[in-house]
Amino acid sequence: MKLLVVGLGYVGLANALSFACLGHEVHGLDLDEKKIALLKEGVSPLEEEGLSQAAKEFKVSYHDGYETAKGHYDAVLLCVGTPAQKDGSCDLSEIHESVECLLKTEGLTFSYLIIRSTVPPLTGRKIAADYHLEGRVISNPEFLRQGKSYEDEHHPERVVVGYGKGYEETQSSFMKELYASLIKEGIPFIETTNEGAELGKYAANSFLATKISFINEIAAIADKIGAKTEDVAKIMASDSRIGGANLGAGIGYGGSCFSKDIPALIRFAEEIGSDYSLLQATDSVNNLTRKRFVLKALKAFKEHKIHKVGVLGLSFKAFTPDVRSSLTVAIVRDLMKDEPFISFFAYDALPSARAQFKNLFPDIPTFEDVEDLLANVEGLMILNDNPLFKEIEEETLLRHGIKVVLDGRNALKKEDFKKVEIIHNC
Ligand SMILES: NC(=O)c1ccc[n+]([C@@H]2O[C@H](COP(=O)([O-])OP(=O)(O)OC[C@H]3O[C@@H](n4cnc5c(N)ncnc54)[C@H](O)[C@@H]3O)[C@@H](O)[C@H]2O)c1
Repeated sequence: MKLLVVGLGYVGLANALSFACLGHEVHGLDLDEKKIALLKEGVSPLEEEGLSQAAKEFKVSYHDGYETAKGHYDAVLLCVGTPAQKDGSCDLSEIHESVECLLKTEGLTFSYLIIRSTVPPLTGRKIAADYHLEGRVISNPEFLRQGKSYEDEHHPERVVVGYGKGYEETQSSFMKELYASLIKEGIPFIETTNEGAELGKYAANSFLATKISFINEIAAIADKIGAKTEDVAKIMASDSRIGGANLGAGIGYGGSCFSKDIPALIRFAEEIGSDYSLLQATDSVNNLTRKRFVLKALKAFKEHKIHKVGVLGLSFKAFTPDVRSSLTVAIVRDLMKDEPFISFFAYDALPSARAQFKNLFPDIPTFEDVEDLLANVEGLMILNDNPLFKEIEEETLLRHGIKVVLDGRNALKKEDFKKVEIIHNC
C-alpha cells in the first residue's frame, strides 16, 4: 500500500518506520524542516534506541510540506499533536490544519484518512461531516509507550479500529489488509465505531492513571502508619484481577499523554453533561501526590540546611528525552516558588532531554555525568525511573558530602544507607 504519515513525532515516526519495515511504500510529512533534514540523512530526531536504528535502516520518502507530497495514497495516517488547551480540553488545531492542507493541496489525494492521534470522542464523525469525507475517516488510536515506541509499534497488545456508520464493511476490509501481518501473528484486532475507538483510548489511559493515583493515595496512608507501600502493592498485584502494572507509588504521573488525556476526558464529559467524579479524583490525587513530595523536600532541605540540590532525571521517564509535562519540571518550579534560595543542578542521560530542560531553565547548569553533578550539590532528588539511579551507593554520596536524598521513584533501599537520609514519598 502507499501511505502518507502526517506528523513525525513519537507516534508518526514509529508508524512510518514500522509500515516501511513491513514493505509498504511510505511517505512521511512534517512541517518541521529540521526534523525532515535529519530524517533524510537517516538520523532520527528523537533519541529513542529503536527509532534511531530503524531511521537508518528503512526507506521512507520524507517531505517538509504538502506540495512536495503530491500523489495518490491508499491512506493518510494522521499523527499530529493534540495538546491540552488552558482549560484542559483537547486542542484539535493541528488536526484541522493538517486535514485542510491535505484537502487543498492540488494533486494530493487519498482514499482513507486514518486518525492515529488521540482525539476526543465524536471527532472522527465531525471531521467526516465537516470536510465531506463520509465513509473515509477511520479511527485507529495509537497505544505505544514512549521509550519503546518502535518496539510497541511492531508488537502492540491490540489494534483498535473504529468505523463510520454505514461504512463498516469496506473500511474493515481495508484495515484488515493494512494490518494483515499483525492479525496473522494473532494480535487482537478490535473493531468498533469511531467513537468507541476514541473513547476506548481515553478510557485505557484514564484507567492506568487511576491505578497510579490509587496506589499513591494508599501510599499516603501507609506513610502515616509506617507500613511499606511496596508490600501493599505486592499484595494487590498478586491478585490476577488487579495485576502489577502501574502500582509503583512515587511522585505521580507526568508525561505528554496521561497529563493531558485525563483533563481532556473530564472536559469532554462535562461538555456532554456526563459525570466525571472518578476522573477528577484521579487528577487531583496526582496533584496532591506531587505537592506531598514538594513539602517533604522543603522540610528536609530546611532541616539539613541544603541550598544546592541535584536533580536526577529530567524527562518524564527513562529512555525518552521528552520533557513535556515532566514532573521534574513541575517540582523544580514548585520549589523555586517556595524556596527561592535553592540552586539547582540537573542531570539526564539524554542530550536532548538536557537541551529541552535548559530551554525552560536557562540558569540551571546541566550535567551529562552523575559524578560531576554530585560534586556540586549538598542534597539530591531522584525524579525519573532511570535504572542507573538504583546503583547510587552511600559511599559515593558521603564522598561528596551529600546528606539527604529525596527519592521520588523509590530507587534506593533505605536499609542500604546508614548515614545519608533517604526520603521516599511513601
Ligand atoms: N507520545 C506518545 O507516547 C503517544 C502515545 C499514544 C498516542 N499519542 C498521541 O499521538 C499524537 C501525536 O503524539 P506525539 O507524541 O507523536 O506528538 P509530537 O508532538 O511528538 O509530534 C507531532 C508532530 O506533528 C507535526 N505537525 C504539527 N502540525 C502539523 C501539520 N499541520 N502538518 C504536518 N505535521 C504537523 C509536529 O511538527 C510534530 O513533529 C497525540 O495525539 C498523542 O496524544 C502519543
